[in-house]
This record gives sequence, C-alpha cells and structure tokens, in this order.
Amino acid sequence: MLNEEAATKAPRTSLHGHWSSRMAFILAVTGSAVGLGNIWKFPYIAGENGGGAFVLVYLLCVFLIGLPVMMSEILIGRRGRRNPVATMALLGEEEGHSRRWRWVGALGILTGILILSYYSVIAGWTLAYVQKSVFGVFAGATAAQVDAVFKNFTGSWFAVGIAHTLFIGFTTLVVARGVERGLEQAVKFMVPSLLLLMLTLLGYSITSGSFAAGLSFLFSPDFSALTWDGVLAAMGQAFFTLSLGMGAVMAYGAYLPKETSIAGASIAVVIADTVIAILAALVIFPLVFANNLDPAEGVGLVFVTLPLAFGQMPGGAVFATLFFVLLAFAAWTSALGLMESAVAYLVERFYRTRAQAALMIGGLIWAIGLGTVLSFNVLMNFRFLKGTIYNNVDYLTSNILLPASGLLITVFAAWVMCRNSTSDELGGGRSSYRHWHFLARFVAPAAIIVIFLQAVGAFG
Ligand code: TRP
Repeated sequence: MLNEEAATKAPRTSLHGHWSSRMAFILAVTGSAVGLGNIWKFPYIAGENGGGAFVLVYLLCVFLIGLPVMMSEILIGRRGRRNPVATMALLGEEEGHSRRWRWVGALGILTGILILSYYSVIAGWTLAYVQKSVFGVFAGATAAQVDAVFKNFTGSWFAVGIAHTLFIGFTTLVVARGVERGLEQAVKFMVPSLLLLMLTLLGYSITSGSFAAGLSFLFSPDFSALTWDGVLAAMGQAFFTLSLGMGAVMAYGAYLPKETSIAGASIAVVIADTVIAILAALVIFPLVFANNLDPAEGVGLVFVTLPLAFGQMPGGAVFATLFFVLLAFAAWTSALGLMESAVAYLVERFYRTRAQAALMIGGLIWAIGLGTVLSFNVLMNFRFLKGTIYNNVDYLTSNILLPASGLLITVFAAWVMCRNSTSDELGGGRSSYRHWHFLARFVAPAAIIVIFLQAVGAFG
C-alpha cells in the first residue's frame, strides 16, 4: 500500500541541493574512496597476507560484493534523499517494514568515528613525511636508514601525537566551515595528479630491477599463503577502500539527480579506485624486492619503500614532497567524508551549529585516536585479542562492522525493498538491474556470511 503511495508521490528532492553533474558525483565518491586505503593499506595487508592469492580474493570481493553493495547504498540514498539514519527509517517504514532500520545508519556513524580515529593518526604520518621530504631527510639514504627514520618517528608518542592533533584539527576546522565547493575542486585536481605521480613512480619501479619479482608476488596466487582471516581482511579492505558499509556513499547518493545511471557511476568509481590501489602495489613491491625489504613489514611499508626510492632518484626530494602532499590531500578528502555523517547527524538531531558539532565530534575522535598514537610506542607491547589497540580498532571496524552493515544494507535493498522501488531507481529493464538483483540478493550476502563464519572458525 505504502509503496504505491510512494510511487505516485511527486519526486522527492534533497534539502541540500543536488550534484551539478554526473561527473561531479563520480568525482566526489572517488575522492572519498581514494585515500590511505589504496596507497597505504592495500599494499601492506596484501604483503602481510602473502600477495597473489590475497589480491585475487580482494578483486573478487570488490566486484562481486563491493559493486552491488555500492549500488544498493546509492539507490537507498537517492530514494530517501535524507541523512542515512533518517533515510533508513523512512524507507523502512515506506517499504512496509520498520523504522528500526535507522540503527543501520547509526552503526555507520559509529564506524566512521572509529575509523577516523586511526585514519587521522596515519594521515598525520604523511604530514610529518612532507616535512622530512622538504628537509631532504631521505636523500641518498640506505634501506636501514629509512627504516630507522620510520621507527624513530613512530616510536615517539609526542611526534605522532602532534601530527594526529594537526590532522584532526585541520579536518575539524574544514568540516566546521562546510566547504563542499572547495572539496569538489580539490578532488578534481588531486585524483588526476595522484594518478600522474603514481605513473611516474611506476616508471622508476619498472627500471628498479625487480619488477618481475613484484609482478609475480602480486599476481601469481599461492593459496597456501592465504588463511580465512586473510580472506576476511580482503573483504574488509574491499569495503574500506570503497567507503562502503557506513552510509557515506548513501549520503552522497541523496544528492544524485534522478536520471543518472547508478550502475554506470558505481562501475566508474570501483574501477578508478581499483586501478589506483593496484598501481600503488605495482610501485611498492618491486622496490621491496630490489632492496631486500620484507613484504610483510606491515603498517610502515609505504613509509619505508617510497622514501627509499625517492632518495635514489634525481630530483627525489621534490617528488617525495609532492607525493606526501598528494597523499595527505587524498587522506584529507576521505577524512572529511568520514566525519561528515556524524556531524550532520548532531546538527539535524540535536540542533547544534555545524561548528559546535564538528568540535564535539573532532574532539571525540582525537581522544579515541590517542589509543592508536600509543600503539606504536608506549603501548606497543600492550596486546590483546588481535594485537595492539590499533590492530583491534582496525579489525573491529574493517573486518566486522563494515561487512556487517554492508550485509544489512544490501539485504534491505534486495529483500526488504520491493521490486518496484529498486527497479524505479536502477532502471528495471536493464541487464545491469538483473545482475545487481542476483548479486545483491544471493552472492554478496552469502559470501559475506560464509567468509565471516569461516574466519571466526565456526566451521571448525
Ligand atoms: N575509502 C577511504 C580510503 O580508502 C576510507 C574510507 C572508509 C572512507 N570509509 C569512508 C572515506 C567513508 C570517506 C567516507 O582511504
């Protein structure tokens, strides 16, 4: 009943206006997707999980789970045209189910806060590395020296704490002011520049002598090197890198004009994000092998391999500075997206001003982030469950919370929403609709559940 009523209603519009073009939407979602996840996180967890087999599983997760989940988030967002909590409540009711679906939106806000708490710390590292690059710290340095720079820096709770404070402070300031237009401009310039710089680095990496070793590490799957926890990490990374499972893409979808193809835009974003991640790995692993470094080195991988390469290149200090500036920018555009939903929620729900809300959320994230700051120095040996505080926050968010809420969002779109509503958003007659419907109904939920149960050892 409610569905028919909804279908005949005048088209819903967003309070905050709409994207100026299809390209603006794609750029905004790509800007949120491309970040530390592609350049810092993907190479290091691929390295920790043995390379090839992990990469293969990751790619399968991106296309078979990530893509349908992204389409589900966008279609829900565009149908509701509100913030994720309000949209889930509204559609839950409209589709004849329950307003309690709003808790899925709330879970996303919580996850965003937790992710940003450590994201800001790592982004702080990139700021510190801009400074080190400018001062030519890496010029002519050996692998051991670059490694020592990293260990000394992260070993100081003070230095890491200051960098984290700077980054979250800057993010808070910008969120408080609300600079959508500036953001669009930043992304327009940043994503192509980053791509160009990565290609330059790729050229260097190809001539480094160990390109073949890097290629075979990344693309010849050795399944004996992959555990179920590794498969879960691959799936978690697919969610993380595509900014899924927290309503962020849903919020962007709320401003999408009705005639834009959701499938087309999603495919463009997924491909752009994947290309940048693979490119980063293609740059990093040949350098790892050329310099006898350990591919499983962990969180420091990018911060050790790339400065080493820059240190040996002519004009390396310039490239290094440029690279870490761009990486900081990429992290910054993602951080704004990570903070936005919590701030928007406080503003709408508790009538806070944007500045008050940003300050409260920024302060909270800063405080939680101290746990990650200390994970690399003072509390380095304080380990429980999955390792340090950082390891646990990361595991909880990427491997549990994102897939769980991705599952709920997809089940909502593919099972709770009626076919009329979803085909109205996706274009029911198209083959992309049939593919989405199959993937979102069966493949993605089943894969998420099986991977999850396998990783916690439910099948023995
Ligand atoms: N995708 C971002 C990256 O790879 C991180 C991220 C996860 C994100 N969820 C998000 C960014 C939500 C913005 C909004 O670095």
